This record gives sequence, structure tokens and C-alpha cells, in this order.
Amino acid sequence: MKKVILIYASATGKTGAIADAIISGFEQTNVEVITKDPFNTDPAELLNYDGILIGTYTWEGVIPDEFMDFYEELDYHDLTGKKAAIFGSGDSYYTDTYGAALELFEDKFMEVGAKIVLPKFLIELYPDLSEIEEAKKFAVQFTTLL
Ligand SMILES: Cc1cc2nc3c(=O)[nH]c(=O)nc-3n(C[C@H](O)[C@H](O)[C@H](O)COP(=O)(O)O)c2cc1C
Repeated sequence: MKKVILIYASATGKTGAIADAIISGFEQTNVEVITKDPFNTDPAELLNYDGILIGTYTWEGVIPDEFMDFYEELDYHDLTGKKAAIFGSGDSYYTDTYGAALELFEDKFMEVGAKIVLPKFLIELYPDLSEIEEAKKFAVQFTTLL
């Protein structure tokens, strides 16, 4: 059975709601998903999984504090061949940095050899019902790419 690790940070629950929808999408698949929070995750653990999903909001144009150590420690790991995708919530009020943390993570994962297999899944603020459905499809699509 393929295994996916899903790590997310959510200060006010919006990225968490997207994560929950993605996790429920995996229930329709035969892939095992382990959910973790960034504080308790060493990037070395990523080597044990076929797929990596990162969920993040953006804080003043950058990665939120909860993810900072994890993000910086990624530099010391070779994730060649790992399949990854990034999701999260942003606020387009921040025109220049809307969802910027998702791109920062995409760039970082590519730098350490991982392959970004799906376009980033960015939702404006809280996901509505159709976006919840899209999130479930995102999970299913991710499994087909593992
Ligand atoms: C001080 C502050 C700075 C923020 N900066 C950004 C930003 O640069 N880009 C962005 O897209 N959203 C920004 N946001 C909005 C949050 O990313 C957005 O509310 C997101 O939905 C929060 O997700 P969460 O509920 O998972 O924590 C900012 C919010 C606050 C309070």
C-alpha cells in the first residue's frame, strides 16, 4: 500500500478545513495517509513515504512560523524522486503575496529533488462546498500520480 504524509499548519482553521477535505478524499483510495504537524516532523521522515502533501497559509509574504524550522531543515535532505504537492489558504487582500508560502514550498521541494506533481491548490480564505469537493478530487488525483 502506498503511503502519503500530510503536514499542515493552520492558525485560524481554514487550511485545516482544506486538509480535512483532502483526508476524506483519501478514504476513496487505497492509499494510507498519515497527518502530522510541522513542529513534530523531521524532514528525514519524508523519506518513508511515497507522497508528500504540505498545507500552509501565508504570513506576511512568507512561510508561517510553525513551518520555519521544517522548511529550513529541508535543505539538508535529498528528496529525489519523492512526489509532492502543496495546498493552502490565502487572502487576496495581500495582492503581492497572495498564497506566497505555497510557491516558496514548491520551490524548496524542487531544490531538494522532489517532483511537484500537481499545481498548487490555493483557496481564498475558507473553502466553500465546491472547493471542499475539489479538495477531495485533489487527493484522488494525487494518488493516481504516486
Ligand atoms: C498579519 C497577517 C499577514 C498575512 N499575510 C498574508 C500574505 O502575505 N498572503 C496571503 O495570501 N495571506 C496572508 N494572510 C492571510 C492568511 O494567510 C489567511 O487568512 C489564511 O486563510 C489563514 O489560514 P489559516 O486559517 O489556515 O490560518 C495574512 C494574515 C495576517 C493576519
